[in-house]
Amino acid sequence: MTQHNPWPDEGNTGHIWDDDIRELDNPPPLWWMLAFYAGFVAIIFYVIYYPAIPWVNSHTKGVAGWTAIEEYNQDFQVLNNWRQRTFAAEEEQLRALDVTEIIQDDNLRAYAINTSRVLFSDYCMACHGAEGSGNPNFPILANDDWLWGGSVKAIEAAMINGRVGNMPARGMMGNLTDEEVIEVAKYSIALSEGNPDAEEFAAGKALYNGKGMCMACHGPAGKPLAPNGAANLANEINRFQGVPDNLQASRLDSYIFTIKYGVNVRQGGGFLENTRRAEMPSFKERLPDAEVNIKRLAVYVHSLGGGQ
Ligand code: HEC
Ligand code: HEC
Repeated sequence: MTQHNPWPDEGNTGHIWDDDIRELDNPPPLWWMLAFYAGFVAIIFYVIYYPAIPWVNSHTKGVAGWTAIEEYNQDFQVLNNWRQRTFAAEEEQLRALDVTEIIQDDNLRAYAINTSRVLFSDYCMACHGAEGSGNPNFPILANDDWLWGGSVKAIEAAMINGRVGNMPARGMMGNLTDEEVIEVAKYSIALSEGNPDAEEFAAGKALYNGKGMCMACHGPAGKPLAPNGAANLANEINRFQGVPDNLQASRLDSYIFTIKYGVNVRQGGGFLENTRRAEMPSFKERLPDAEVNIKRLAVYVHSLGGGQ
């Protein structure tokens, strides 16, 4: 920068670099000034029209009555209307057809499955786990170990009517002693481990088929003869895990507990203390548009891997 200004008349600021680069003092172009003032006008308009100035508990609302959530809802409505128009035929078919017919139709079946995931997460996942993977004390829906049957009809019925398994405490007649409960529990485990005929389980086997009448529900070899809500004892899948004050308790302790206190045993106006509770609520009144959504979910659950 030099003190000497060789261009005193051109209106420069006197700041000169590299001998001849000067800073001038021209007004901004007219278009720029207009845009600048228009900006102020726009701000005033904006502040009046839209919600703008924060206040202690709220903010100015603006004369337009605009809110982000309202705009979202309107857009969502547009999307929903589009969906309803686009998939009207599929929805109509879901409503009209029986679940057994729906699973025969590849397109309709795929449509039902794809539109079920959110419903399943909202209404079923808390108990049955993500994609039906199960939670301790709630059945897995993604395997073929069914209490009530894995046909799409049986799955639909579970949602319509709910499901409540019942197992009496201490055998069918409620008369097994503590020692007998332990014997029959050991035998029940042997059923899944493949050595039920070993000498050491003879006493348990006799109780299972005789005094306890376990086989009436659980079947002669631990597998119910037809689905009736009773657990399959012939596989390694366990419904109940641990005992209430020790969730890590061994399988034997868990079985002993279940046999002692039964499942959903009623007493007086309520339930027997310690009885295992296992109740699938009816979804007829719980699901929005249950008539269609129960079918949709039945097709989805049936597809999870264990459908029959
Ligand atoms: C409050 C917990 C809970 C919710 C929520 C729930 N279930 Fe269940 N569900 C259960 C229990 C507990 C059982 C086992 C009942 C029994 O022991 O007989 C069960 C059983 C079932 C069965 C029968 C399983 C079998 O092995 O035969 C199906 C199918 C089923 N549920 C589907 C669903 C679907 C689909 C939803 C969502 C609409 C759902 N459940 C929501 C607790 C629940
Ligand atoms: C009236 C039918 C009925 C009778 C009789 C019955 N059970 Fe059960 N049992 C059930 C039902 C129902 C369940 C619970 C299934 C569920 O909700 O997961 C069950 C569950 C069990 C379980 C728990 C399995 C697990 O995976 O945690 C065991 C163990 C068991 N029973 C053993 C026996 C034995 C041993 C006897 C005889 C002393 C017996 N049951 C008698 C119906 C019966």
